[in-house]
Amino acid sequence: MKCLVTGGAGYVGSHVVIGLLDAGHEVAVIDNLSTGYRAAVPSGVRFFPLDLLDAEAINKILASEKWDVVLHFAALSLVNESMRKPFYYLRQNYITALNLIEACAQNGVRRFVFSSTAALFGGKERFSLIPDNARVEASSPYGESKFLIERALVWADQIYGMRSASLRYFNAAGADPLGRLGEEHTPETHLIPLAIDTVLGLRGKLKIFGNDYPTRDGTCIRDYIHVTDLADAYIRVIELLDRRSVTYNLGNGLGFTNMEVVQAIEHVSGRKLPWEWAPRRTGDPSMLVADSALIRRETGWSPHYSSIDIIVETALQWRKRNPHGYRKQAGIGQEKWSPIFGQEVEL
Ligand SMILES: NC(=O)c1ccc[n+]([C@@H]2O[C@H](COP(=O)([O-])OP(=O)(O)OC[C@H]3O[C@@H](n4cnc5c(N)ncnc54)[C@H](O)[C@@H]3O)[C@@H](O)[C@H]2O)c1
Repeated sequence: MKCLVTGGAGYVGSHVVIGLLDAGHEVAVIDNLSTGYRAAVPSGVRFFPLDLLDAEAINKILASEKWDVVLHFAALSLVNESMRKPFYYLRQNYITALNLIEACAQNGVRRFVFSSTAALFGGKERFSLIPDNARVEASSPYGESKFLIERALVWADQIYGMRSASLRYFNAAGADPLGRLGEEHTPETHLIPLAIDTVLGLRGKLKIFGNDYPTRDGTCIRDYIHVTDLADAYIRVIELLDRRSVTYNLGNGLGFTNMEVVQAIEHVSGRKLPWEWAPRRTGDPSMLVADSALIRRETGWSPHYSSIDIIVETALQWRKRNPHGYRKQAGIGQEKWSPIFGQEVEL
């Protein structure tokens, strides 16, 4: 298939791009490199250095050739930042998606896969898995922007017959098991890459927020899904789209506490990880884990890299080889391809 991937220079998008290439598909990427890296896009993949706010340019790409499927990852995704800049987030996520969805619908695209989020379920206290039919109650402009996009896709299906999949997930984690790509966010806010940088001596002590949650060791429980398992799910749902639109929760199904993540990193690296307690953060619920019953049943998908040790191991291996990540790579408009691999860090 001929696949157009927005945000393909970002963490999840780039892993799905190599998943698509490995499966024999043809791929092109649109990305403005605001948070992504040119070096994360494999050589040989066509790259359009564009912002999705540019409706005219997007329409040109959709009109000039026939795309079998569009996979949409491009977005801003920091929940806290969205609370400080609500309209910026709504514009950057919703308006950009509308530009893309409209161009797809009007140019006859039949399949669209959307990176939604489990953040649209809000942050209320729950002590069981979040089911596929849980009520949507976004507690941030980020979550709201994703729900608005899901609704736009419902209308694109009803009026234009464009089938879509909205995949709602929590924390993508880990790195390509073959070491070709990894996780790189600036600023980094995710626990696993922060903890790995701590154990590698690339940053100071790790803070663990709260030790009095009603969980097995007092720290928060979160859902970490390996990014290669995510890529597998994206590829499986494309096939379903010939028949109908779908919305799925996507999770590991196994929640891990913050302390279990720390212990896994110590175990895998064979090193002590310096950490300290910090007060609870406002709005952090005890447990956020998605139930993925529907996608498992309807596509046969299940996570292969579900153990926290494997998730951490793949992330650690990539970071050891790439202590400076993609930061030094080319920016927008510069088509130079640089090798992904860097220096290995001594453990
Ligand atoms: N990482 C996670 O744990 C997670 C969890 C749930 C959902 N998601 C969703 O998955 C998607 C990818 O997340 P990620 O962690 O890979 O983020 P990322 O920041 O690494 O990737 C986003 C990519 O989109 C590009 N981009 C952003 N705005 C753009 C625009 N206006 N025009 C063109 N390109 C633009 C960025 O340059 C970047 O390459 C996002 O939509 C995010 O909301 C991520």
